[in-house]
Amino acid sequence: MLNLVVLISGAGSNLRSLLEACRDAEYPARVVAIGADRDADGLELGEEYGISTFTVPFTSHPSREAWGDELLAQIQLWDADLVVLSGFMRLLPPRVVAALTPNLLNTHPAYLPEFPGAHGVRDALAAGVAETGASLIVVDTGVDDGPVIAQERVPVLPGDTQASLHERIKIVERRLLVQAVLDIANGHVDLKEHSHI
Ligand code: GAR
Repeated sequence: MLNLVVLISGAGSNLRSLLEACRDAEYPARVVAIGADRDADGLELGEEYGISTFTVPFTSHPSREAWGDELLAQIQLWDADLVVLSGFMRLLPPRVVAALTPNLLNTHPAYLPEFPGAHGVRDALAAGVAETGASLIVVDTGVDDGPVIAQERVPVLPGDTQASLHERIKIVERRLLVQAVLDIANGHVDLKEHSHI
């Protein structure tokens, strides 16, 4: 059984897909804790699914490093096999990444290396591309430039808004995430082989 800690900043709709997958007794992973950097809406999923939550507010720490150290301490309490950033909108300090990688995944709403950063959907729309995508990567110390574990193209359709395109991308993200966790748990994907650092 693969134990997961999932970090969020927002609604946690991708997290919900993972929690639904984990309800299946045959699925070899479970979420042991949900963490956030703010009072994220998705923390309510903890109550709904009976899972512990923790919040380490970025704004109540004197530096990114101090915040990161506290976040890492909270994560390590759970002895997780894998940490998933699922809409976690803060850059982790290098020593947090170093402590967790390669067992640290991030979902991203674009076909990396295209459109990295916090506005992957907006940037793809602004660029006028015909297709963008969804990616799942191992987090390393760069911004969205870690090894790609899974990715898939998603079309941009006429009349798309940021919301409609993002929702189409998230449908793919959820499938990639649930499948990748399964593959890692079953040993079909070895994250150590995908590590840059
Ligand atoms: C997802 O699309 C995820 O890839 C993105 O935030 C969304 C979270 O949605 N993450 C990033 O943009 C990270 N740079 P959710 O809260 O509904 O799961």
